[in-house]
Amino acid sequence: MTMKTLQQLLDEGVEDRHILVRSDFNVPLDEDGNITDAGRIDASLPTLKALLEGGAKVIVMAHLGRPKGEVNPKFSLKPVAEALSERLGQFVALAGDVSGEDAHERANGLTGGEILLLENVRFDPRETSKDEAERTEFAAELVALAADNGAFVSDGFGVVHRAQTSVYDVAKKLPAYAGYLVEKEVKTLSKVKDAPDHPYVVVLGGSKVSDKLGVIEALAAKADKVIIGGGMCYTFLAAQGYNVQNSLLQEDMIETCKDLIGRFGDKLLLPEDLIAASEFAKDAEKQTVAADAIPEGWMSLDIGPKTAARYGEALKSSKTVFWNGPMGVFEFPAFASGTKAVAEAMIAATKDNGSFTVVGGGDSAASVRILGLDEAGFSHISTGGGASLELIEGKELPGVAVLGQ
Ligand code: 3PG
Repeated sequence: MTMKTLQQLLDEGVEDRHILVRSDFNVPLDEDGNITDAGRIDASLPTLKALLEGGAKVIVMAHLGRPKGEVNPKFSLKPVAEALSERLGQFVALAGDVSGEDAHERANGLTGGEILLLENVRFDPRETSKDEAERTEFAAELVALAADNGAFVSDGFGVVHRAQTSVYDVAKKLPAYAGYLVEKEVKTLSKVKDAPDHPYVVVLGGSKVSDKLGVIEALAAKADKVIIGGGMCYTFLAAQGYNVQNSLLQEDMIETCKDLIGRFGDKLLLPEDLIAASEFAKDAEKQTVAADAIPEGWMSLDIGPKTAARYGEALKSSKTVFWNGPMGVFEFPAFASGTKAVAEAMIAATKDNGSFTVVGGGDSAASVRILGLDEAGFSHISTGGGASLELIEGKELPGVAVLGQ
């Protein structure tokens, strides 16, 4: 599929044109509303800078969290506007609304080289509406902000798997281009999907097996090994007949996991030891135990050292790695060692074995930065969680497909 790219738009010229950009600024915030990982904001800068340098009047659309169509200050993009201002070295105004009076006034008042961020697009229920007519109406309001001769740049890779107004419907109403980030992500992840060098090792974590089922099915067929960790591994352990005590468990998925083990058994790598905790707390009492020996009433919060070493061995000889989902509750330092070990093994495989290593996903990408690992040690760190998984899985991404129309 061919998409028009930002470079083509820049060649056409953007000076004094209103350019609507969709970015993904869905960043994690702490309890005080401070951004804990600005990776997605940093990844959006090349596109924004190129447009500003070209003299465009840039209007950025983005979401934060899932405010469910209601204005909620907790989900305001204010911290993002501040972080962007700092990084771009110029003031980023935040509109008081999404497509209302304030947004219109500010958009009209922009001069070339200035940038405006609209409030959280998900404050408007039409953004995520399943009703196409509602989305089309909202898209028309957003497009009106761009006046005549406007264009749309899709750069929020993390959200291109959503057929939502600011990602999909707006692209149908304006000349639409892939921003640098979307272009790079699609190119890199497509290589992993279409032509991975072998051995190809997939590392999957995260809490829900149900979210990863399609990926396990699609990837177990293509990969040489599928390493399983994180919250989802306990349903697999339960499928092996182990008592996982209070660990995360999706009981309704046990049969499905049994079936997967039956079909892909030798390819699926499951934990043999775990770090069990007395409770879900960062200072919980902890113990390294065999996978079938979690103490009564305890829960596992990480994979154990033997498991981490075995997973590391599989990664060492890899030529391609795709990783989505942490191995444990890495946010608690006492339960971060499994995630750290897997990430370090990927870095070593990149350096020593020329492996093409891709980190997909919000949480895994955040864990790399939060654990202080060398981002440059991986071949690619994606900004998309669900989006990278769906691309690798072979699903059509509406926000990408629409750029090729
Ligand atoms: C993400 O965080 O994966 C993207 O920003 C998409 O967010 P969503 O899952 O709430 O649609």
